[in-house]
Amino acid sequence: MFLESKKTSLYGLLIFVLLFETCICEGTDLITTGQTLSGNETISSANGTFELGFFTPGKSRNYYIGIWYKNSANKTVVWVANRNHPVSNPYNSELKLFPNGNLALLNESRIQIWSSNSTAEKDNSSLAILFDNGNFMTRDTQDSSNIIWQSFDYPTDNWLPGGGKVGYNKIKKEKIYLTPWKNAENPAPSIFSLEVEPNGTSHNLFYNRTIQYWSTGDWTGKSFVLVPEIDRNPLISNLQYITNVNESKFTYDIGIPKVLTRFMIDTTGQLKQFIFRDGQWISYWTRPDQCEVLKYCGAFGICNQLKAPFCTCLKEYEPKVSKNWALGDHTDGCIRPSFRCGVGKGKDKFYSIKNMRFSFQDAGDSHSLDVESDKECKSACLSDCSCTGYVFNGGKCVVWNGEVYNLQELASDDSRGSVFHVRITKSGSDRKTSVWIVVGAIGGSFILLGMVAMVILQLRKQKVGRYNGAEGDLTLFKYKDISKSTKDFSEKLGEGGFGTVFRGTLPNSRDIAVKRLKNLKQGEKQFRTEVSTIGQIQHINLVRLQGFCIEGEKRLLVFDYMKNGSLENHLFRQNSDVFLDWKARYNIMIGTARGLNYLHEKCRDCIIHCDIKPDNILLDEEFNAKVGDFGLAKLLGREFSRVLTTIRGTRGYLAPEWISGEAITAKADVFSYGNLLFEIISGRRNRDLLDDGDYFPALVAEKLSKGEDVLNMLDQKLEGDADSSEVTRACKVACWCIQDDEKNRPAMGLVLQILEGISEVGIPPIPRFLQGFIGDNKFQTIVYQHQTFDTTTYNS
Ligand SMILES: *[C@@H]1O[C@H](CO)[C@@H](O)[C@H](O)[C@H]1NC(C)=O
Ligand SMILES: *[C@@H]1O[C@H](CO)[C@@H](O)[C@H](O)[C@H]1NC(C)=O
Ligand SMILES: *[C@@H]1O[C@H](CO)[C@@H](O)[C@H](O)[C@H]1NC(C)=O
Ligand SMILES: *[C@@H]1O[C@H](CO)[C@@H](O)[C@H](O)[C@H]1NC(C)=O
Ligand SMILES: *[C@@H]1O[C@H](CO)[C@@H](O)[C@H](O)[C@H]1NC(C)=O
Ligand SMILES: *[C@@H]1O[C@H](CO)[C@@H](O)[C@H](O)[C@H]1NC(C)=O
Ligand SMILES: *[C@@H]1O[C@H](CO)[C@@H](O)[C@H](O)[C@H]1NC(C)=O
Ligand SMILES: *[C@@H]1O[C@H](CO)[C@@H](O)[C@H](O)[C@H]1NC(C)=O
Ligand SMILES: *[C@@H]1O[C@H](CO)[C@@H](O)[C@H](O)[C@H]1NC(C)=O
Repeated sequence: MFLESKKTSLYGLLIFVLLFETCICEGTDLITTGQTLSGNETISSANGTFELGFFTPGKSRNYYIGIWYKNSANKTVVWVANRNHPVSNPYNSELKLFPNGNLALLNESRIQIWSSNSTAEKDNSSLAILFDNGNFMTRDTQDSSNIIWQSFDYPTDNWLPGGGKVGYNKIKKEKIYLTPWKNAENPAPSIFSLEVEPNGTSHNLFYNRTIQYWSTGDWTGKSFVLVPEIDRNPLISNLQYITNVNESKFTYDIGIPKVLTRFMIDTTGQLKQFIFRDGQWISYWTRPDQCEVLKYCGAFGICNQLKAPFCTCLKEYEPKVSKNWALGDHTDGCIRPSFRCGVGKGKDKFYSIKNMRFSFQDAGDSHSLDVESDKECKSACLSDCSCTGYVFNGGKCVVWNGEVYNLQELASDDSRGSVFHVRITKSGSDRKTSVWIVVGAIGGSFILLGMVAMVILQLRKQKVGRYNGAEGDLTLFKYKDISKSTKDFSEKLGEGGFGTVFRGTLPNSRDIAVKRLKNLKQGEKQFRTEVSTIGQIQHINLVRLQGFCIEGEKRLLVFDYMKNGSLENHLFRQNSDVFLDWKARYNIMIGTARGLNYLHEKCRDCIIHCDIKPDNILLDEEFNAKVGDFGLAKLLGREFSRVLTTIRGTRGYLAPEWISGEAITAKADVFSYGNLLFEIISGRRNRDLLDDGDYFPALVAEKLSKGEDVLNMLDQKLEGDADSSEVTRACKVACWCIQDDEKNRPAMGLVLQILEGISEVGIPPIPRFLQGFIGDNKFQTIVYQHQTFDTTTYNS
């Protein structure tokens, strides 16, 4: 509107400008062809909300072209042009609209350091305007709908109301995404970003553009699956997802007139909503928690959600780049300026920190060692110079041979933590060693140096001997040895569609489980390749592959033996001598989710398990869940899906896409996991209907949708002895996991966050395929359901 009324005066201005070239008149909102903006000159939007010009962040000596809210005492910059290329003298630099419609920033040497890379159709036909919504646009002078370029297509870290967008540019095939400043004084893009996948509708936070650490969940039309409260956010209105031939995007408007609000991704790696009140911007809503930002405190940093500053360095470590650290950018992490390994026992010691946990699977360069006690774990670490710390917890020894990441310090009454031991120098000994070496070198005493070298070499050798077999190298077994270990395959542990599992004991008295594969039509070379890939995958919630055997047609896989067998044994068998209480069950849910999450996201090649069911969840001595049989889908190739869909009992866990023949993604595992949760909650198989003919998952989904309590749905054997919030959470997650459309199912990472109580979860809709089990349709569907669950069994 404002543009129309100003049109006439615009021509006057144009002529004025053509005559006098470079003047930017105070109070204007536009730059015309040939005009430049330089020094302390600015343009302001019509009603004075936004201003554009050179600015310098904090105490920095660098200047940038940016857009900021004019009202705030301290410039609240919402967009930066030359994020990576500052200038040092704004008076000798200029932002210029060239006759061809290109907007460019020239530095002191008149070199173009930033440009909009756009050109108008006709020369001298464009102008650049700053609008009241914060959008800076070059467009045709006459035709206001002919947009040449606009800052809203290239946002910085702010998602502004009234047209600001996050989404996907279909023409350029580029994401329209946000990245925070590196720190308060440097607008260069940091390692974090907020992005929407081209074909998805969830807003995801990423580390290094690739590793997702938080998600809103999918868009439901009103809110996001995992951020349902956004629908009730009074400060915003019209939050919508728009998709057309040019782009798909999310936009929103302010909800209360004159109450300014905005979303931004902060240097902290969090998505925040701010409200402008009493002359300053106040944070109104923030996700996720600070310590849930991946690698926020960097290597060797500790995050503590409960005290400021959030990040500290481990003992003896200090910030790697203290300037950045002080400005709130901790991603460089911490280093130890002068650590020299004590070489040998007794020289170094450990500093123990209680209540530590790893907020993500990626804990850095860690691996497990097969030792029995804290003492052995400690001495294994001491004997290796590259070892930086260890954890011995629940009978497991994990050592770090390098950087430690995502370490989080919990509240003292939080039972999820364990003790982390960081290696430190025994005071004084460090200095002495180095003095000795210097003296030796100065004195030309090469003998001493030689001795030191020999000691180191000796230690290296010892290390190799000691760790052998624990580092993930697979053993190639001889058939006759395995035959001997298993006493001629006499003790059968189980049988499935892909082969039979036998118990055995190696000569070193280690227990193993041997899987004899059938249905294998694959060549030896490919088998070896696939097996070695599986062998590299190691995680505390995955059954470890120790080795394999390949002789003629014979194909055997050798796994760690799991003392407590499979979850199936304990959940459904009447004669199980162990009773799984709620705590154990919840722990199994979380462990399984961790294992799956690792397979889906954390290991090098994503692995879809394809066959998640209680039979494949194994339990160690402490009843920790370990997912077994992963990688089989790949190992067996096409044969796998043929066999899988015909194995008795498996069908109830399969996602609809298996049956409809669509491509299988990790979300198929999520579906099976959901069904597994229902069985853990009810203590019975889903396909065994309840006494009155009800189907358990349908009943739970219905209760949840009506807002009814689900605690009474619990396995009666538990006698109600369970944490009701955990039961509700587990039921909700299970329902989300079995949604018909895979896009609506959460990723395993999110499942984990919800179960751990880090993320909230909304009320799940009743999946379409369950609606038939509810109300009047019930009996009709039950007949049908009996067929679908196990039909294939009968014809196979
Ligand atoms: C801009 O700088 C000039 C001198 O270069 C000065 O006279 C003028 O007052 C400044 N304007 C503002 C708004 O600071
Ligand atoms: C402006 O910045 C200064 C220094 O960074 C700070 O002390 C002051 O509180 C800020 N003022 C407002 C209104 O945010
Ligand atoms: C201007 O930019 C060019 C290219 O980045 C650079 O080589 C030159 O040193 C810059 N000039 C000044 C004065 O900084
Ligand atoms: C313009 O193009 C150059 C070179 O392709 C690129 O580096 C720069 O980021 C582009 N600028 C914008 C604003 O897209
Ligand atoms: C555009 O304007 C410049 C002066 O700013 C002039 O030299 C040039 O001839 C004009 N081009 C056209 C196509 O009008
Ligand atoms: C997005 O979906 C469309 C159709 O559903 C498909 O043609 C296209 O390849 C997908 N693009 C990406 C990047 O997945
Ligand atoms: C980010 O990813 C790139 C490759 O995609 C890699 O080279 C780089 O090291 C990564 N940076 C960090 C800090 O992880
Ligand atoms: C898509 O872009 C073209 C060219 O810029 C434009 O003419 C058209 O109106 C746009 N379509 C939509 C739906 O925005
Ligand atoms: C300026 O315009 C914007 C967008 O139309 C509006 O939201 C804002 O309230 C206006 N501000 C003032 C001070 O009038």
